[in-house]
This record gives sequence, C-alpha cells and structure tokens, in this order.
Amino acid sequence: MARHAFLFDLDGVLVDTAVFHYQAWRRLTQELGFDIDEAFNETLKGISRMDSLERILEHGKVTLTQKEKEAYARRKNDWYLELVNRMTPADVLPGVEDFLKAAKHGGIQIALGSASKNAPVILEKTGILSYFDAVIDGNHVSKSKPDPEVFLKGAEALGVSNAECVVFEDAYAGIQAAKAAGMYAVGIGEAGVLNNADVVVPGFEGVTPEQFT
Ligand code: BG6
Ligand code: MG
Repeated sequence: MARHAFLFDLDGVLVDTAVFHYQAWRRLTQELGFDIDEAFNETLKGISRMDSLERILEHGKVTLTQKEKEAYARRKNDWYLELVNRMTPADVLPGVEDFLKAAKHGGIQIALGSASKNAPVILEKTGILSYFDAVIDGNHVSKSKPDPEVFLKGAEALGVSNAECVVFEDAYAGIQAAKAAGMYAVGIGEAGVLNNADVVVPGFEGVTPEQFT
C-alpha cells in the first residue's frame, strides 16, 4: 500500500528540545542529590512528564508523596519552558523545513504525534505550525508511548489507515509505538540505539519524502 501520511514526533525530531528536557531533568535530580547520564536519558525519550518523573525517582531511589511529585514535575516544566520560550525558527533542526515543504508539495498529509503538552507553544515559536494538517499531543492522549494511542489518533485525524502512515521518531519507545500501530517507522538518530526501526537516518538533511513512500 502507498504510504501518503507522515506522522512526526516533535522533541528531538523536528526541534532540538530533547536536550532541554535532559537539562531540566538533570537540574531536578541534582537538587534531589543524584545525577542522570545520557544512557539513562535515552530511556526517558518519548515518555510523558509524570512517567518520566516516576522513572527518575526509581532510578535515584527517592520516594515522594503525590503532592511532592506534582510540585517537582511543575518545577521541571518551568525550567524547561524558560528554554523553550527563547526558541525561534532558527531552532528547527537542519533539513526539517525543506522536508516538510517537499512532503506538502507531494500531497502527503502531515500530523504531529508527540507526548508533549508543550507542543503547541513549540510549534508556534518555531514557526512550523502551518505545515500540520492535524496536531495530536500530550493534551489529547491518556497513554504514553510505547502505547500506540498518539499515532492511532493521528491517523484517525488525517482520515487514513495505519498502513498508509510513516512515523518519524527519535525515541526507542516511539518506534515501539509506531510498530504497535502497524506503521512504517523511520528512526531519527543512531541505528545502534533505534534498532527496532524499519530504517534509520541521522536527520533530515539530504533526505527526501520519496525515500519513505
Ligand atoms: C516527549 C519527550 O516528546 O514529550 C519526553 O521525548 C517528554 O522527554 C514528553 O517527557 C512530555 O513532554 P512535556 O513537554 O509535556 O513535559
Ligand atoms: Mg522525541
């Protein structure tokens, strides 16, 4: 079947906010008296804010009440938003805008499939909102990746079948979600890390939509 709908993850795929998440979580763990490294951070990618905090607390063997957890998650998000609020169109990752343009020109439908509740502000600040025919983000789903909910809702919003969709993801859990949805999964990053993807590219520079349809 021809694949003519593209579903994009946001953080670490279209914009470099994956580093902002890492920085903000590290700031929090250092306050709690421990540190996280890049390998551990990899396991947080694609995971919702509260689920990420749960994993972090378990990693640092820290127990908090529900109220404390909510307060810490809010602080992390405030620090994260300080970084996001400084974003401009220059923060869109290399090759992304040309790729989105070429996809649109080729009649491909485009949706966002992100776990982030901050997706609208990021799309707005970076000026890429107008490329999307549908936006499904953390405000629309109840289950975190690797659950396929976010991508199933994306396909539904575009009115296409799952097999017609290509998902672009930088997270292992995101690729799991795409495969669970019965979609073609393009990993953005390193093939060694994203070994569950159908194909892996380092980024969008020099890449064309036809390679995946
Ligand atoms: C995902 C990120 O895109 O969004 C995760 O990969 C993040 O690191 C998740 O936890 C939720 O984001 P937010 O912006 O709602 O805290
Ligand atoms: Mg991501």
